[in-house]
Amino acid sequence: MMSANKKHFTTAIVGVLVALSVIALVLSLVKTEDVTLPPTVKYGMVFDAGSSHTSLFVYEWDSDKENDTGVVSQTLSCDVHGQGISSYANDPPKAGDSLRECLDEALKVIPAAKQRDAPAYLGATAGMRLLREQNSSAADQVLAEVAKTMQGYPVAFKGARILTGEEEGAYGWITINYLLDSFTKYSPKAHMWVHPEVANIFGALDLGGASTQISFMPEGSGIKQNGASKLTLYGYNYSIYTHSYLCYGQNEMLKRLAKELIVESPSSTRVHHPCYPKDYNETISLSSFHTSPCTNWTDTRLTLGDGKVTLEGRGNASGCQAALKKLFNFSACGQRQDCTFDGVYQPPVSGQFIAFSAFYYNFKFLNLTEGQSLATIRETIQHFCTRSWEDLSSSYPEENPERLPKYCANANYILTLLLDAYKFNETSWNNIIFQMKAGSANVGWTLGYMLNLTNMIPAEAPAQMKGHVPSLWAAAITFIILTLVLGLAALLLLLWV
Ligand SMILES: *[C@@H]1O[C@H](CO)[C@@H](O)[C@H](O)[C@H]1NC(C)=O
Ligand SMILES: *[C@@H]1O[C@H](CO)[C@@H](O)[C@H](O)[C@H]1NC(C)=O
Ligand SMILES: *[C@@H]1O[C@H](CO)[C@@H](O)[C@H](O)[C@H]1NC(C)=O
Ligand SMILES: *[C@@H]1O[C@H](CO)[C@@H](O)[C@H](O)[C@H]1NC(C)=O
Ligand SMILES: *[C@@H]1O[C@H](CO)[C@@H](O)[C@H](O)[C@H]1NC(C)=O
Repeated sequence: MMSANKKHFTTAIVGVLVALSVIALVLSLVKTEDVTLPPTVKYGMVFDAGSSHTSLFVYEWDSDKENDTGVVSQTLSCDVHGQGISSYANDPPKAGDSLRECLDEALKVIPAAKQRDAPAYLGATAGMRLLREQNSSAADQVLAEVAKTMQGYPVAFKGARILTGEEEGAYGWITINYLLDSFTKYSPKAHMWVHPEVANIFGALDLGGASTQISFMPEGSGIKQNGASKLTLYGYNYSIYTHSYLCYGQNEMLKRLAKELIVESPSSTRVHHPCYPKDYNETISLSSFHTSPCTNWTDTRLTLGDGKVTLEGRGNASGCQAALKKLFNFSACGQRQDCTFDGVYQPPVSGQFIAFSAFYYNFKFLNLTEGQSLATIRETIQHFCTRSWEDLSSSYPEENPERLPKYCANANYILTLLLDAYKFNETSWNNIIFQMKAGSANVGWTLGYMLNLTNMIPAEAPAQMKGHVPSLWAAAITFIILTLVLGLAALLLLLWV
């Protein structure tokens, strides 16, 4: 016979077990709610303050996945009306005002409750680098004004600054490889993050108005001398070569070309321009060369007055190429193969490249972004250059008349830069993809910049997939069942004895 004490003891055990199972059940329900809650969306924004214009990009991502790769998407891109912020050097508050329209757009797409947590950056590139060179206090004032405007909005302002050319190149490279999942990829089969072949890493070719950047991972022994950036991303080390050429953006290049042509035919007010279409004339004032350090050099061949010169288009493709080549000092490299021009070191190009910004826009207009062979591309450009201004303006009435006469020069410049300077050849040319977007996002430096500054690209490999949720469930259920079985057993034992 069981004693009364023993009976009480058994009842107590059963009670405790039942209570425990109830607690476990409640806990698991609470946990379920956690798991099924919608993920929190976060937002961030970056102004790309370029030399000729400014754009704003708004990004969003799930905060519980922020260390994964490829989770950030682009919510909005907004083009600021007017010129780049460096053009407001004489009236800095206008630089700040120019951003308002896009900031208002951004606040429309970011829910009010998320705005104060949204990091907001402004990065300025070569246009501001040039202004700083010319008048650093004017550059500081422009930056102070854009910062003041951004601080007036309910966002988490994180700074307005001028990027170095190397940062611009490296962040473009990060953006591309992040968007194309080339750093790390989750393999559902292996249940782990795998590191794709190094051969799947893309290089970045960026052409702006005032500078151009090349960034890639060189093959084999890698990089000697300076120009190397070492990055550790998702547990892997990357040694990338990046170089930025100030004054080699397409607008500064055109200005330098015009100045060179004028210098070569002194005391003439009418100068032949081989890259402009036949019958197209452009009158420029010589004082405009003083506004940029790229053309403000003193030249003994010419004392630039305040006069005006008319550039007369000649539509001569080969003359255009020859004139463009003179903008590069190839002889400064001597016989060195690991050298582009002006004595700049570059290891041989290797791997695939994405060519974006003005590389893309010019080739897109000429329908050359479909992977055509180099021979076809040369032929198309050559033919385009021979078309008269009358022909062009009637064939492309929709095209901006400021831009239309410049495609011949820009396209030939792209060929010279890629082939003669960077030394792509007939074969490696086919590794260049002309592309503006990857997925939903624009290719450019802004996304890489935000990812880096918000620490969203960890140095370590990502943690294993969020597999702990099912295992937690399994543990909870096992515990509940075990508790119930034990309780039942105890109850039976109690009744039995
Ligand atoms: C992301 O990584 C950082 C540093 O590695 C860590 O502190 C943070 O908790 C991680 N965030 C998430 C959501 O995993
Ligand atoms: C530099 O910019 C400031 C502010 O715009 C202006 O007052 C000053 O005259 C400029 N200096 C030169 C040398 O142009
Ligand atoms: C090119 O570079 C070399 C070596 O730096 C220099 O001697 C030469 O004057 C430069 N040529 C031009 C046209 O600037
Ligand atoms: C590009 O292709 C379109 C459509 O085929 C054509 O209308 C246009 O003229 C082409 N542009 C050039 C510059 O050849
Ligand atoms: C990214 O940020 C880290 C600091 O968080 C810095 O050390 C690193 O150089 C940055 N990466 C690039 C490409 O500038």
